[in-house]
Amino acid sequence: MKKLFSSALLGLLIILPFSGCTKKTDEILIGEFGTLTGSEATFGQSTNKGLRMAFDEINAAGGIKGKKIKLITYDNQGKPDESAAVVKRLITQDKVLAIIGEVASSRSLAAAPIAQQYKVPMISPSSTSPKVTEVGDYIFRICFIDPFQGAVMAKFMLDNLKLKKVAVLRDVKNEYSVGLADTFIQEVKARGGEVLIDVSYQANDIDFKAQLTQIKSKNPEVIFVPGYYTDAGLITVQARQLGIKSVFLGGDGWDSPKLHEIAKEAASGSYFSNHYATDSTETIVQEFIQKYKAQFNELPDAMAALGYDAGKVLAQAITNASELKPELVKNELAKIKDFPGVTGVITIDEKRNAIKSAVIVKVEGNDKKFVTKMTP
Ligand code: PHE
Repeated sequence: MKKLFSSALLGLLIILPFSGCTKKTDEILIGEFGTLTGSEATFGQSTNKGLRMAFDEINAAGGIKGKKIKLITYDNQGKPDESAAVVKRLITQDKVLAIIGEVASSRSLAAAPIAQQYKVPMISPSSTSPKVTEVGDYIFRICFIDPFQGAVMAKFMLDNLKLKKVAVLRDVKNEYSVGLADTFIQEVKARGGEVLIDVSYQANDIDFKAQLTQIKSKNPEVIFVPGYYTDAGLITVQARQLGIKSVFLGGDGWDSPKLHEIAKEAASGSYFSNHYATDSTETIVQEFIQKYKAQFNELPDAMAALGYDAGKVLAQAITNASELKPELVKNELAKIKDFPGVTGVITIDEKRNAIKSAVIVKVEGNDKKFVTKMTP
C-alpha cells in the first residue's frame, strides 16, 4: 500500500512538470471571465461568441508564432466576488498569458486588482467606468468611457431632440449606472438643461412603480435610465402602464436582444448610446455581421463586436511582443494605434482607454436603427 502510494506520487511528480511544459509550448492560453448566467447573461454569452470567432480566425490562419490560441472561459454568475475568484484561478492555476473581461464595470473592478497584483494584462472589451483602468498599468479597455457617453447623451437630448426637462432613474448598486448618471447630469446642467428629479433603485429590483410614480408627478419630457437591459425593459413596461409618455434615453447597458423581448413595444421610440450600429454601411461591419450570423444565426450585439475586437487587439499585441511574456504583451497593448476594429478605429491612450466615437440608436420594435454618430 505504502509502495503503491509513493510510486503514484512519484508518477504525479514526474507528469506535472511535463504537462506544464507541454501546455506552455503548444498553445497560447488566454483567460476569459464573464456573466454567462443570470439577468445579464447575454453580456457574457455575446462577448464569448465574438471572442471565439476572433481566435478561430487567427488559429485558422496559423495562430501566432506558430502556436494556436486556447481560450479558457469561466462564468462569474454576474457576481463581483466570483469575478475575483475566477481571475485568480485563471492566473495561478491555468497560467494564462492575458485575460479578457468583463462587460459590467463592477465586475471588471472586482477582478482588476488581482490581474494587476499578478502582473497579467487584462482587457475589458466593454466596461465604461473610468475607474476600471485606473487600477493600474496592466488594465486596458478597447471601448470609450462614461464621461464621454454621458456627454453624448446630454448633447443628443438638448441639441438633436431639443428636449430640456429630464428625470434620472439610476441603479445605486452599479458602478457604471452611478457614474453615467453623474456625468449625464453634470453635462445636462452645463448645457442649459433641467434635471427635475434623480431617483434610484437597486440591482435585482423588479418593481419600479414607486420611483416611476414620483417621476410622473414631475412631468419630465425625458427619463434617463443608465441601467442594464433587464431593468430598462421592465422600467419602460411599467412606465407605460402608469401612463407615462416621456421619451426614454439609455446608455450602452440597454443593448441586448432581450431588451425587446422584455419591453415589447414599451421601449419603442427610446434612444441609447452604443459602441456600433448593425445597420452601418462600413464594409468591416457588414463582413463581421455576415460571418457572425452564419455561425450563430443571430445579429451580433455590441458586446459580440467588442469581444471580437478585444480578441483581435490582444492577438496583435501578442504578435508584436518578442516573447510570450505577460509584461511584454502589456507593453505592446499600450502601443496599439489605429487598429481597425469593427467598433471603430482603436488607439490606446496613456490611461489605457480607447478614444472612439459612439453611435446613437433608436429602438423600433425588435430593431434598433442608427440615428447618429458622435465623435469625441
Ligand atoms: N458599459 C457597461 C458597463 O461598464 C457594460 C456594457 C457594455 C453593457 C456594452 C452593454 C454593452 O458596465
